[in-house]
Amino acid sequence: MKMSADQNLSFSIHRHANPHSPDARAALLADPGFGKVFTDHMVTIRWSADKGWHDAEVKARAPLTLDPAAAVFHYGQEIFEGLKAYRVGNGVALFRPEQNARRFQSSAERLAMPLLPENLFIEAVEQLVKIDADWIPDGEGTLYLRPFLLAIEPYLGVRPALEYIFMVIASPVGAYFKGGKKAVSVWLSKQYTRAAPGGTGATKCGGNYAASLIAQSEAMKAGCDQVVFLDAVEHKWVEELGGMNVFFVFDDGSLTTPPLGGTILPGITRDSLITLARRDGRTVREERYSIDQWRADAKSGKLKECFACGTAAVISPIGEIKAADGSFVIGSGDGGPVSDGLKKTLVGIQRGTIADKEGWIRKVI
Ligand code: PLP
Ligand code: COI
Repeated sequence: MKMSADQNLSFSIHRHANPHSPDARAALLADPGFGKVFTDHMVTIRWSADKGWHDAEVKARAPLTLDPAAAVFHYGQEIFEGLKAYRVGNGVALFRPEQNARRFQSSAERLAMPLLPENLFIEAVEQLVKIDADWIPDGEGTLYLRPFLLAIEPYLGVRPALEYIFMVIASPVGAYFKGGKKAVSVWLSKQYTRAAPGGTGATKCGGNYAASLIAQSEAMKAGCDQVVFLDAVEHKWVEELGGMNVFFVFDDGSLTTPPLGGTILPGITRDSLITLARRDGRTVREERYSIDQWRADAKSGKLKECFACGTAAVISPIGEIKAADGSFVIGSGDGGPVSDGLKKTLVGIQRGTIADKEGWIRKVI
């Protein structure tokens, strides 16, 4: 992928005239859940074929007015990212935001959208974190940041749009899974696949999630938290969950995670955990793992733990896999020491309580 070079734009800042009062904000922060509460501001940057990136603004969060013919409504030209701001001592930090910026560029390239320079992506996120820093919950909560890019040109012909808007919104969040439960259950989707070779599986485009929702609703009907997808060609190899990557932990302490082959999202949490586990002396294989092997290893006891990981979910042990042709449980059904240890280390680095040996933390305040 060709990266887009840095570009300087000055952000004009318009503070909300009537932001939430400290009391109203505190009430919302008491139990924010996930993705339901939003801060007072947002960032927008416009792009057009003639002007390139322009009009960078920080302003009051408000609904958008778009032409009903805007391309995004018809052909789904939309990409997004997800990252978090953490309270670190008296300051605030981001975790590997340059990785989100780069993945955003690679998503844009795949969807024939303009590439936002890495420095503008990071500056947009930092501007929002700074102006809405009071919205970062105390304790275990974080501020989830959602950068996204929409094709807004009013045109019904099918070709890449000539006009876009980039935005960042922010949402204070607690645990992704309700009640912050320890282990989650997953539904094995046999009928639906998430991504095929040559498709958009490795990009964070809204369309991938739209296509996964019928399988997610099947999962919910079966009483599961998430859906797990198999590959689209042989319907045999475990790929990832609807919104998280997956790891398997074996009795010899080694780990396996499905390889990045273009059909799964290259998770930043996944990449960080591979580094942390290897640093601990563990063997980590990026290797295909079949559903039959998964079932057999769970039964024999060779598979000790299994976990989902991602920015929203952090690390969530997978306790049970439910499927139309029989369910199975992993180990104790409640996680285990390897996922616990990796979570402690990762969260410790993000929170500044464990040394950041890899240079992953970027201080904002
Ligand atoms: N896989 C999918 C489909 C996702 O939506 C996410 C979340 O962003 C991930 C994996 C994990 O990626 P990351 O660790 O970068 O958040
Ligand atoms: C994230 O982890 O940032 C995601 O986008 C996944 C989604 C389930 C919220």
